[in-house]
Amino acid sequence: MNILILGSGGREHSLAWAVMQNPKCDRLIVAPGNAGIAQIADCAALDIENGGAVVSFAEENAIDFVIVGPEAPLATGVADRLREAGVLVFGPSAEAARLEASKSFTKEICDASGAPTAAYARFTEAEPAKAYIREQGAPIVVKADGLAAGKGVIVAMDEQTAVDAIDDMFGGAFGGAGAEVVIEEFMEGEEASLFVLCDGEDILSIGTAQDHKRVGEGDTGLNTGGMGAYSPAPVLSAEIEAKAMDQIVRPTIAEMKRRGTPFQGVLYAGLMIKDGQPKLVEYNVRFGDPECQVLMMRLGAQVMDLMQAAAEGRLSETQVNWADDHAMTIVVAAKGYPGSYEKGTVINGLDAMPEDSSNMVFHAGTKSAEGQILASGGRVLNVTARGDTLQEARDRAYAMVDGIDWPQGFFRRDIGWRAL
Ligand code: AMP
Ligand code: GLY
Repeated sequence: MNILILGSGGREHSLAWAVMQNPKCDRLIVAPGNAGIAQIADCAALDIENGGAVVSFAEENAIDFVIVGPEAPLATGVADRLREAGVLVFGPSAEAARLEASKSFTKEICDASGAPTAAYARFTEAEPAKAYIREQGAPIVVKADGLAAGKGVIVAMDEQTAVDAIDDMFGGAFGGAGAEVVIEEFMEGEEASLFVLCDGEDILSIGTAQDHKRVGEGDTGLNTGGMGAYSPAPVLSAEIEAKAMDQIVRPTIAEMKRRGTPFQGVLYAGLMIKDGQPKLVEYNVRFGDPECQVLMMRLGAQVMDLMQAAAEGRLSETQVNWADDHAMTIVVAAKGYPGSYEKGTVINGLDAMPEDSSNMVFHAGTKSAEGQILASGGRVLNVTARGDTLQEARDRAYAMVDGIDWPQGFFRRDIGWRAL
């Protein structure tokens, strides 16, 4: 098969790495890709949020299967355009992608399906929103309804912070994403993520993970896209995972089907677990980044068959072949991230890395120039390893990190502290 992956991050490098290992894969193109992806696949410049351009590209290159990495092309309907053109695609329709693109839509689905989640109210005007905050008190969570690149959620520990967040959102700080605001009850507990493939009707769990969102050790400092992750997540025991599937994911998928907008792709359920009970924090309609990197390390080539089965509506015929293993990824980022940082600095030491089925450096923001690898983004490398235990995976990953020579980079030394 000729396969096209859309995206350019560590998530897409790990997807490409897994797909490449499947004998079904004759040719792999990643658009736009990065320097690490270019070492294993063809990269092509393409406006991946333009459905027409993606369809033309797929037709010109005789693509049999498209895998959509990030949420933005899904929200703009790229998967719909591909399906209309008769191209097999892994990823939900724009209508089903609202599970990520609209927080109030997700709340509506939770109400209709009885999925446990935080109590909430929706507002389109500031004054009633502020009155509600005063009535409920802090801590309280204020969310811009739309996609805000992970920045639209304010967990307010006091009322004033929440009220200020309302002013920011209705003041246009998040553009159209903040035209509607969801205010939620603050949930206590431990967060973990569950990843489930869906073909519109059937579902298949492909693993659990936990990430570290804060930039600093001890989970302190500013929020980032994620500084490291590991799989499985010990807090999501088989019993709690089964509850999450039965009470949250399955009813959601059934409700989407009932509405005539079935969900096909990967559903990433962000969960809060307390006293053995999972509650939904949010859905994403794509793989997490960097969670995908640890899932791909554990699943390997079979993920290609599973994604294809999801796209073709035959998930019920499949199963996951699990090894009893653990994986961890350490994000190496440019100093200054998530604030401003330097670009174009040289990364050395990557050639000497052991790269095999248990050790991989997945690239995120990199480009190559004159035979050198240069940093071109905030999160730059995802150093990923697998082991029989989480400790073994962690020791391997940090041994690789220590072999990287990049003075302008930094990473956290404590990924996985909660689980170890
Ligand atoms: P989201 O973008 O919805 O995942 O929110 C970002 C982060 O905010 C989550 O990963 C949680 O850590 C936190 N968060 C969101 N909603 C709540 C809530 N209702 N209670 C506590 N923390 C929350
Ligand atoms: N690592 C969090 C996310 O991908 O949304």
